[in-house]
Amino acid sequence: RDLTAFIARLPKAELHLHVEGSLEPELMMALAARNHVTVPYADVQAARDARASFTSLQDFLNLYYEGMSVLLTEQDFFDLTDAYLARAASEGVRHTEIMFDPQAHLNRGVPFSTFFPGLQRAVEEAPARHGLTASLIMCFMRDLGAESAADVLQQAVPYLQHISGVGLDSAEHGYPPSLFTEVFKKAGELGLKRMAHAGEEGGPENIWSAMKDLQVDRVDHGVRCLDDPQLVAHLEETQVALTVCPLSNLCLQVYPGSLGEKLRQLLQDTKVAVTVNSDDPAYFFHADSGGGYVNANYTYLANVAGLSASQLAQLAAAGFRASFLDDVAKRQHI
Ligand code: HPA
Ligand code: ZN
Repeated sequence: RDLTAFIARLPKAELHLHVEGSLEPELMMALAARNHVTVPYADVQAARDARASFTSLQDFLNLYYEGMSVLLTEQDFFDLTDAYLARAASEGVRHTEIMFDPQAHLNRGVPFSTFFPGLQRAVEEAPARHGLTASLIMCFMRDLGAESAADVLQQAVPYLQHISGVGLDSAEHGYPPSLFTEVFKKAGELGLKRMAHAGEEGGPENIWSAMKDLQVDRVDHGVRCLDDPQLVAHLEETQVALTVCPLSNLCLQVYPGSLGEKLRQLLQDTKVAVTVNSDDPAYFFHADSGGGYVNANYTYLANVAGLSASQLAQLAAAGFRASFLDDVAKRQHI
């Protein structure tokens, strides 16, 4: 049975989305021209082709950071975020929590006072322009270390009223969550929600550490929890949600050969709180599922895990439940 139309109509929340990963080749090439930045692609098609196959997380990250080089002005960050919001709204997303990577911009000489107002204005105008709500999650790049993360948190202080939480992303190997215990503690004291990418390319020990050392409210990815039955039991008991991104895992070959079976297990054989998200939709494209945005992720998951319409509706509801919306807003959506 074709569930595509059902998925498209479902009201959804998206909780794991890197705005820099929503930079489509068309916009990247347009901004390259507008800002006189050189990119190593002759045209849009060449830029798209470069994203067609990744062999690992790092292989993707190299292209992801390169792509951002075209983002220079406040307007660029507005345009990027607004384009994502328009697309998300067109797919039935009613609420989205958008991650951004300050260090990736600060390290290129683009200051907070440039990129943040662009992101923030797009988020603020989202209800009127596109009919959905949005908030911002600031990610620390783990491969830049804890000192740099603490510095970013300090720089973000003037903007904290517009930031709902902090995350931890980029290369997982070699940078366990425990390195960031101090800075996450500080973020918690500042009233920020906390989450971390864990159990994507790393193993279950990183998920344990994110929960115990960083006190996370959600785990980003987390699919490798399946390697540890005790961890699965702990996730079932606490109902700390995983923000799973099926097409990201597929494109980055997180579970070579057996991803479909792993996702089926997670959804059908456990009671872990799972949500469905797109991660970097302009990079993780899957023609058979209809692209890389959230509906394509639901479609892929429905196919590999054999989900029914009512299970899909439950997944969509789980997205709102695991969001940082207040209880009244959650009830309005579910
Ligand atoms: N994993 C780690 N870092 C990232 C990702 C991801 O999937 N996307 C953007 N930064
Ligand atoms: Zn991610």
